[in-house]
Order: sequence, then structure tokens, then C-alpha cells
Amino acid sequence: MKKTEKRIYLLVFLLLLFFLFTLAYSVYKFKFILTKNDIVFLIILLASIIFSDKYPVIIPIGTEVSELSVSTAITFTVAFLFNPTLTIIVVVLGTIISDIITKKKWYKILFNTANIGTATGITSLFFSKFYNPILPFTSPQNLGVVIFGAATHFFLESFFLYLLLSFIVNRPLFSFYVENIKFIAVEVLTLYPLGIVLMYFFKYNPLMNAFLLPSLIAVYYALQRRYVIIQETKNALFAIAEVVDKKIPDTIDHTKRVAIITEAICNELQLPLSQTNEIVLAAMLHDIGKIVIPDFILKKSDPNDDEMEVIHLHVIEGEKIVSRLSLFRKGAVIIRHHHEKWDGTGYPDHLKGEEIPLGSRIIAIADSFDAMTTQRYYRDRVKSFDEGLKELKACAGTQFDPNLVEIAIKVISQKREELLKLMYPILQSQ
Ligand SMILES: [Fe+2]
Ligand SMILES: [Fe+2]
Repeated sequence: MKKTEKRIYLLVFLLLLFFLFTLAYSVYKFKFILTKNDIVFLIILLASIIFSDKYPVIIPIGTEVSELSVSTAITFTVAFLFNPTLTIIVVVLGTIISDIITKKKWYKILFNTANIGTATGITSLFFSKFYNPILPFTSPQNLGVVIFGAATHFFLESFFLYLLLSFIVNRPLFSFYVENIKFIAVEVLTLYPLGIVLMYFFKYNPLMNAFLLPSLIAVYYALQRRYVIIQETKNALFAIAEVVDKKIPDTIDHTKRVAIITEAICNELQLPLSQTNEIVLAAMLHDIGKIVIPDFILKKSDPNDDEMEVIHLHVIEGEKIVSRLSLFRKGAVIIRHHHEKWDGTGYPDHLKGEEIPLGSRIIAIADSFDAMTTQRYYRDRVKSFDEGLKELKACAGTQFDPNLVEIAIKVISQKREELLKLMYPILQSQ
């Protein structure tokens, strides 16, 4: 068993122990008494947990998306309304049923159940100890308890989940938390206030909750639309990039290979996921500006100086196209500089060394390796895979960032099979 797997099993085992302890303590302290009203509320809340897990809200943040389930707000409300024993039973039941409906694997169901059961159970224990039912809900003391309860619930639920994810992607917990801070902020700022409103209504006038529903449905559809628009814009841009690749038969799948190498380098550098996505997206679109360059110039085996100048314009045209779309703007700078060289002899701005954006430096290596190792109009002989790697090494410190070259050689060698499959048959025998 690998070290990572061992750590994951150990984490799940500890979490289960923690959950069973919380459950045992709750059962020991709080009896299982149900009134008629409780039963109606419990059925409504249970159905809402299952329903909201089935229809998560997709929140687009930049070009990334995060799936949010309103069930977090509902389980938080359950923790407030019912005693800890009842709370645990309801949220565990809700989680298991919705995980089965959404066809999750058994170990995920186990983890989710223990995680949500523990977080919600402890939050409910906290409420039963500190919430004062004699004072109004909106009294400073009780509001303070509710807000602190939200913080406890959020911290417990996200801690084990992020710990597990950081084991899986092999990153330190803290940096993983920081990387995902924008997703966390959206969750905290939307779901917990909603939970607090739900609590208030359930406590004083449960029917009022029905009036929340239309707004929630409207928000759901608005976000869903936004997500679709982002996806469609991405697809349109990728389609243009593919047209560019196909303008010259030589460069079919060029963009795909460049993106594969770029992503592998970003992963090896352990860049934050959002930065990796940004750079890979730029890699997918790096030559998009060639759409405005006449085909006869692109196909020339020996372009003259004027024609070379026209070809060089593709970086600026690419930047212009991408920067018109507000969500993709960050990638525009990376595209502009993907032909700069480490020693300052590249184009369009002759940037040197670390003046060149990191993403552009990475794409430059991936792009050049692919150009060297695939057939091109302007060159008779193609370099073999190993010759390409040697050439990268030879150009470290002049054309390429020397620190990145070492990493690139390592990851390109690892991706050899995958890349060769995407190259021409002539290369597959090498
Ligand atoms: Fe280019
Ligand atoms: Fe390229």
C-alpha cells in the first residue's frame, strides 16, 4: 500500500471513530423524543437535503467552477432546530440517501457520512449548550452563538474534507486551503446567511420559508446560465484554435500536445490549481492569433523578413482576441509573450529572464519541443523525441528558462507515450 493510501485510510478511520464518539455522547445526553411538529419538519428538511444535493448550484468563479450544495445551509439549520441525536440521524440519513441517488462510491459515502455527521452533531451540541431559548433569536448573545455555530460547522466540515483532498493531490493542507480561499469565501458568504434565515423562519414562522423558494430557484437558474455561457465561450475559442491548427496540416493537434506538456510542467511545479488552469487555457489558445495571418504566409517554407514580421503579429492578434473576453483576460498577457526568449532575443517586447510571465516561459518550452519534433513546412528533417529533449537542454539559459528546462525534460519523458500517440505515424515508430 502506498504512503498516500495509508494516510487516507487512517484519516477515514479516525474520522469514523470521532463520529461514533459524537453519536454515542449525543445519544447518552439527549433522548430521542419526537413531537408531531418535529416529524413534519424533519421530513421537509430531509427531503430538502436530498433534493439540494441532487441539484447543486454551479458557481462560476473566473473561468473555474465550484459546485455548491444548499444542503450545507439545511444541515446547519437542522443542527439548530433539533437535539444532537435527532440532528445526527437526519443528516446521516439525508447524506446516505443523496449519495446513493447520485451514485457515489461506498468509501465516499462512508467519508461524507462521518464528516457531515460529526460536523453537524458537534454544532448541535454547541447550540444545545450555549443557545438561550429564553432570549430572542436576534438578541446579541444568541446571534453571537449562531454565528460562532456557523464558524464551528464550517470549520469542522471543511477541515477533514480539505485534509483528505490535500492528501490526494499531495499538497500541504494550509496552502491547499489558501488556494481554495475564493471557493471557501463563496460558501461561507452564501450558505451560512441562508442557514441563519432558515433557522429564524423555522423558529418563528415556518411557512415563511416557502417565500424563499422562488428567489432560490431564480438564483439557481441565473448561475446555471452564467456557467453555460462560460462553457460555450470556451468551446468557441477552442474551436477557433482547432481551425488554426488545421490551417496547416502539419500542426494538427499541436495545441493539444502543447497543453498536455504545459499542464504536466505546472503540476510538477505544484502551482496553485487556479494558476495552472489559467496557464493551460492560455496554452490551448496560444496561437489563436494565427487566424488573421494569411494561409499562404503560414505555409511558406522560407518566409522573407516581411513575411516573418507578419507571422510574428500572431502573438499580438491573439492577445487582442482573448483580452476582449473579460473572463479570459489574464491569459492574454501569457499569450502575448509566448515567443519571448530567456536572453531577450524573442518577440514582441524582447523581455528577458523573469520579466517574461511564468506561463509564457512554460508554454515557450512546450511549444518549441512540439515544433521541433513534428513535421513542419519550413524544415526538411524532424527531430526525434530524444533529439528534441537534447535540444531543450542545449537551449537552456539562452532560449528557455534553465530551471524550467530540467522539469520539462522530466515530465515530457514521462508523457512520451501519450504525446507520441498524438504525433504523426512517422514518429510513432521512434
Ligand atoms: Fe506561436
Ligand atoms: Fe505554437
